[in-house]
Amino acid sequence: MSESVPAGDRSPAHGAGETAARVERRWATVATAIVVLLTGVAAVGGIHQATMPQREVQTIDPRTLHLGGEFVETNLGSAAEADGSVTVRVVGQQYSFTPSCIVVPADTPITFRGTSSDVVHGMLIEGTNINTMLVPGYVSDIPVRFDTPGEHLMPCQEFCSVGHEGMWARVKVVTRQEFAAMANGHPRVSCVQ
Ligand code: CUA
Repeated sequence: MSESVPAGDRSPAHGAGETAARVERRWATVATAIVVLLTGVAAVGGIHQATMPQREVQTIDPRTLHLGGEFVETNLGSAAEADGSVTVRVVGQQYSFTPSCIVVPADTPITFRGTSSDVVHGMLIEGTNINTMLVPGYVSDIPVRFDTPGEHLMPCQEFCSVGHEGMWARVKVVTRQEFAAMANGHPRVSCVQ
């Protein structure tokens, strides 16, 4: 005796079961497609990052910073550029920043360039989202803009040994006019002018 349902005489319960199976297959297909898509996105992103060089990696010899080149002591501090922007150069060392007080104008495009002469330090300007590492052998380059004059603490935010908690500098934001007056006749500006 056959138990198959004769064609054209299917019970409502049997039809509902087929519909449920079809819907479940559809959802399984959608879920699989999502997993495949996410795996693909992660793979493409990972491979892209691993194979493409960073925009720009700038290296520097931490043993000769003090002897010459961009981060020699007389070149540190704020420099007014010909295009109206300002470049600030900072060196972190156990346990201070040079210069220890930085002056910058408000409402001006500024580039902070920093490196370390010994271990990894951090540079965080309180009250802003400016936060970068100073890694020996590399130059950190970060664009900055301050809307209003004021004063900010700039602590080292990376534990760099026993004197870490005493390592901080100040960032004084002055008006453009004040900065122009300070920069007049001085290739590099710092708090002590
Ligand atoms: Cu330098 Cu912590």
